[in-house]
Amino acid sequence: MNMKPPLSNVQQRDIDAILHPYTPLHKLSETGAMVVERGQGVFIYDTQGKEYIEGMSGLWCAGLGFGDQELIDAATQQLQTLPFYHLFGAKGTEPAIELAEKLKELAPVPISKVFFTSSGSEANDTQVKLAWYYNNARGKPKKKKIISRIKAYHGVTIMTGSLTGLPNNHRGFDLPVDRVLHADCPHYYRYGHEGETEAAFTARMAKSLRDLIEREDPDTIAAMIAEPVMGAGGVIPPSAGYFQAIQPILDEYDIMLIDDEVINGFCRTGNWWGCQTHNMVPRTISAAKQMTAAYAPLGAVMVPDDIYQAYMDLSAEIGTFGHGFTYGGHPLGCALGVKAIEIYQKRDILGRVRGLIPLFEKRAKALAEHPLVGEVRTSGLMGGIELVADKGTKRAFLPSLGIAAKAVSFLEKRGAILRAIGDTIAICPPMIISEDELNALFDRLQGALDDTEHHVTKNQCRAEAAAG
Ligand SMILES: Cc1ncc(COP(=O)(O)O)c(C=O)c1O
Repeated sequence: MNMKPPLSNVQQRDIDAILHPYTPLHKLSETGAMVVERGQGVFIYDTQGKEYIEGMSGLWCAGLGFGDQELIDAATQQLQTLPFYHLFGAKGTEPAIELAEKLKELAPVPISKVFFTSSGSEANDTQVKLAWYYNNARGKPKKKKIISRIKAYHGVTIMTGSLTGLPNNHRGFDLPVDRVLHADCPHYYRYGHEGETEAAFTARMAKSLRDLIEREDPDTIAAMIAEPVMGAGGVIPPSAGYFQAIQPILDEYDIMLIDDEVINGFCRTGNWWGCQTHNMVPRTISAAKQMTAAYAPLGAVMVPDDIYQAYMDLSAEIGTFGHGFTYGGHPLGCALGVKAIEIYQKRDILGRVRGLIPLFEKRAKALAEHPLVGEVRTSGLMGGIELVADKGTKRAFLPSLGIAAKAVSFLEKRGAILRAIGDTIAICPPMIISEDELNALFDRLQGALDDTEHHVTKNQCRAEAAAG
C-alpha cells in the first residue's frame, strides 16, 4: 500500500519541467521535489508552508541565512544603478574593483590580482587554465598535470569534474580526462591502518604523494589543488600535520598549491580562510559561495604578483589574455560580495562563529555515543557524522541501503535539512544561527538518528551489511 501523499500541482510541474542536479532521476516521480517558497533567518518554508531549519546553509553558501535586509538593499541599489556590465576588453565597474580590493586585503597570502567567475567550478577550471598558461609563459610547457585527491570536490565542469575525486561525478560522464592525478585521501579514521598512529599515517600520505610525483615525472606536474577541509567528499579535515608534511615535497618539485576555499572561506572554519585553520600556505586561491552569502552567483581566483607578471609576458607574446566569462565579476554579485564582507566585519561574524564552536562541537561529539555513529568530524561550524554498521570494526552499511539519506529524510519530517554524502551526514548551518536554533537542529538530528536506528533494526540492515 502506498502511504505517500499525492504530489501537489507545483511538484508535478517541477517534475514535468526540471532536470534536477544531483538527484536520483529514476525516483523523482515517486518522491517529488521539495519546492521551496521562501526563507527567513535560518529557516526555509516549502510550498505547503512547512518550516525547516536549513542546517546546510543551502549548499554550504547562505552563511548569513535568508532575507537579510542589508543584502537585499545592496542588490536593489546595484540593479538600479548598473544591472550589468562586464570586465572584457579593459572595461571596469566600481563594485568589481571594490570587491577585488577587499579580497586582496583579506587574503591569507600576498595577492596581486583577482579574476572573477560566476561559480566555484569556473574558478577552479580557470585555475587549471591559468596554471597551464603560467607554465607556458615561463618556458615549462611539459608541466601540465594537476594532482587532486580521492574524495576531493572541485566542481563539475569537464576539468573540475575530473579533479573531483568521487565516482558518481565520473561514472557515465567519461571522466576523468587525462592530465589529472588523484592522490590518497588524508582521512585517518577510514584509511589509517590497524595500529598506525595519526603521525605515521600523515607520513605515509606524504610518502605516497612523493611516490606519485616521482612515478609521473615531476617535470610534467603543474599544480596540486586541495580544499583545506574536504567538504562534499564527507567533511574530512586533514590528518594532523598533513599540509606541513606535503608542502615541502611540492616545493621541492616546483608544484604549486592551489587552495580551494569555495566552502571553507569567509569564517566557516573559525578563521577567514580554511588554510589558516589547517596550516596550509597556498600560491593561488579559489573562492565563491559565502563570498556573496549566496545572494548572487560569483567566484574568484586570486593570484600573486610573480605569477601575474608571467601572464603579462605571454599576453604580450600572443597579443591578449584570451579567457573570461560574460558574467564573471557581474556587478550584482560583486556589490553583494562587498556588502557580505562588510557584514562579516561589522557584525563580527568571525567572533560569532568562534563563540558557537564550543556548543557545535559539544553537540556533534555527543552524537558519537549513538549506536549508528562511527566518527564525528568538525572544523569550525562544519561537521560530518559518519554512520557505520559496526562501530568496533568501522564496517560500512551496504551503499545501496542509503542509510545517511534515510536519516536525512527522517530529519526532514522533523523539520530540518542536512545533507547525506555517502554514509556521512553533513552539517553546515548559517553562521548567524542562535544557540537555541543550533540546539534545536541537533535535537532533531538526534531524533532522526533514533528513527534511523529503529529502521535499521526493523529491516535488519546490519545483517545485510555483514552479508555484503
Ligand atoms: C570545494 C568546492 N569547490 C568547488 C565547488 C563548485 O562550486 P559550484 O557548484 O559553484 O560550481 C564546490 C561546490 O560545492 C566546492 O564545495
